[in-house]
Amino acid sequence: MPRKIILDLDTGIDDALALAYALGSPELEVIGITGTYGNVAVETGVRNALAILELFGRSDIPVYAGVPHARTRDSFEVLEISEFIHGVNGIGEAVLPEPSVQAAGGNAVDFLVQSVREHGEDLVIVPTGPSTTIAAAIEADDHFAENARIVMMGGALSVPGNVRPWAEANVNQDPEATDLLFRRSRDVTMIGLDVTLQTLLTTEETAQWRELGTAGGDFLADATDYYIRAYETTAPNLGGCGLHDPLAVAVAVDPSLVTCLDINLKVDLVGETRGRTIGDHDRLNDPVKTARVAVAVDVERFLAEFMQRLTSLAERTPARRDLVPQAADR
Ligand code: RIB
Ligand code: CA
Repeated sequence: MPRKIILDLDTGIDDALALAYALGSPELEVIGITGTYGNVAVETGVRNALAILELFGRSDIPVYAGVPHARTRDSFEVLEISEFIHGVNGIGEAVLPEPSVQAAGGNAVDFLVQSVREHGEDLVIVPTGPSTTIAAAIEADDHFAENARIVMMGGALSVPGNVRPWAEANVNQDPEATDLLFRRSRDVTMIGLDVTLQTLLTTEETAQWRELGTAGGDFLADATDYYIRAYETTAPNLGGCGLHDPLAVAVAVDPSLVTCLDINLKVDLVGETRGRTIGDHDRLNDPVKTARVAVAVDVERFLAEFMQRLTSLAERTPARRDLVPQAADR
């Protein structure tokens, strides 16, 4: 029986790759997507998720719009750095047709709460953006906080942040929400920069997608090449782009890809370390640890799984449309 999964995405290039990983995993049944803000505004992220689902022939999966801004703010504006890394449209200016299916009518928080009530332990929730919508579900229902199994991309325990010296991008958007998640959830796995900056993709791999000659292969290659070019500017020492969000999905499929430290976590909320994910001093001696932080990753095995799953998914999409010859060529 495939494991049920809900993705909470700020779609985003690596969110798109995470969605593709989930769709390409026979061990998973994607029962829905909730859209958060972060790399893009909620509406743009929802639109991207719908368009990607359509590309891969999975418009049957519902997409719900989540909370549009951080808990301590009353609006959201895309940061310059997000636009630089993911493009104005969030998918590296790759062009996908307008989706023919609309976002689901219901509310993302209700969908999350109901899904945990219905599926319990058979469901895993994978947030790959700011924690705002998940925190709202925790506040809406104690049962959700007690029973939701969460594998999240966000935070940094043993390495610096990527948007500020102490803060990782997702946690930086809404530190209060991630703090609430860490304090109230009973089962959280944190896939942070400690491991995601070890899983890197290069144009050698994206060329394999382009060679497929399919619409899916072209999309994955176009979007990821944009992301790789951005990384060449912001982190040239890495030699590739970080596969942050897909690693979280991969761990939901196969936890043995990472080695974890059991720990009770919190987020610093004041001062220069605001947004830092760190052990909660007050719960240091509590024998019950509610979180696991990934501190090591089997890079080779993850990359092999990543390429196999995305390539076979892209292979099954329609052929790239034949180019119309230009007047000068005739
Ligand atoms: O720090 C990496 C995270 O920030 C990823 O989820 C990426 O999509 C961006 O939102
Ligand atoms: Ca993301």
